Amino acid sequence: MDIKLLTQVEKESIGERQPLPDKYLRLSDDEMDERIAAAKKALGDRVVILGHHYQRDEVIKFADFTGDSLKLSRAAASKGTAEFIVFCGVHFMAESADILRAPHQKVVLPDLAAGCSMADMAAPDQLEIAWRELGQMGVRTDAIENGRAGLIPVTYINSSAAIKAFVGAHGGIVCTSTNAAAVMEWAWERGEKLLMLPDQHLGRNTAWKMGVPLDEMVVWDPNEMWGGLEPAQAARAKLILWKGHCSVHTRFTTQQIDAFRKKYPDGKVIAHPECTLDVVQAADESGSTERIINVVKNSPSGSTWAVATEIHLVNRLMLEVAPDKTVVTLDPFGCLCSTMFRVSPNHLLWILEGLVEGEIHNQIIVPDDHKRDAKLALDRMLQVPV
Ligand code: 13P
Ligand code: SF4
Repeated sequence: MDIKLLTQVEKESIGERQPLPDKYLRLSDDEMDERIAAAKKALGDRVVILGHHYQRDEVIKFADFTGDSLKLSRAAASKGTAEFIVFCGVHFMAESADILRAPHQKVVLPDLAAGCSMADMAAPDQLEIAWRELGQMGVRTDAIENGRAGLIPVTYINSSAAIKAFVGAHGGIVCTSTNAAAVMEWAWERGEKLLMLPDQHLGRNTAWKMGVPLDEMVVWDPNEMWGGLEPAQAARAKLILWKGHCSVHTRFTTQQIDAFRKKYPDGKVIAHPECTLDVVQAADESGSTERIINVVKNSPSGSTWAVATEIHLVNRLMLEVAPDKTVVTLDPFGCLCSTMFRVSPNHLLWILEGLVEGEIHNQIIVPDDHKRDAKLALDRMLQVPV
């Protein structure tokens, strides 16, 4: 498992990272289960535990609410009674919860090293440079004409609070894999072009399904001069896609789909939209983790599915959610999100026992100067009907 180094942006929104104390190592599974349950009981309504679908079973079984990024953002914005929101997920999710929480609440990420490599692919200074260079290339970045902006920034929720703040301050909006099409529609009603970051695949897959031709999409490479584009390309584009990706979902291939279809001619494939376009085009269905669960669960008993997403969710579908179906991972080796995996039951226990003792570890604190504008972008998203 790789140990992720915290980016500067992440360091800004946290206190000191506190490592797991030795006394929380080498505990038996039973002892951890008993002590987590006891600490949770002692805290009662003072704590709410949110769990993303990629969390391990040993952790997610203690979640009060499970969901995809959108569902968990809504939960964070609405669970005003709890004093502590313990977010079993990754850094950008806990940051979003800290932006959306009620004033008296505190958000904790059990292991602060649980980041997201995709979110790290867009740094605020790179976005500022991109915005400036697109303006220099002739894209209207600051003027409204006939009631419409020239460029609207749209950021996937898998991004830092600083990126969300830039987007919020420039008339833009956040999206998740559930509402990307509705959010992009919202943005195109207000602007001629969209700059979509950090995941090029979610942007391309969503726009392609909305009927946007591929030749109206270009990729902005933040590591190239002028994003690697000619001004004419930027002028023609309806959608400018940031060159970012998920290292877990880009491992799925069409060769794997061909092999699955050979073995299970009646089987169906469902892929997360962070997969590449060829995989999503070759799949029968695509959607967020929540949609994957609903589609597989509601399919006829006895059906067969290959699922292109993180292995913990695929295993849960197979064993718990849809045991009357055959569910396999599209990648025979399974794709693990190593940063989601950092949140262990040991960390959860340490956090909860700390709260019982009046100690708060690994709190997420988004600085106020990012919070206001990032909230604008998140609130705009929460108001878009899906
Ligand atoms: P969902 O919002 O679909 O759960 O996706 C989050 C994520 O990070 C997928 O890699
Ligand atoms: Fe980030 Fe990919 Fe992990 Fe999702 S699966 S949290 S996008 S690295």
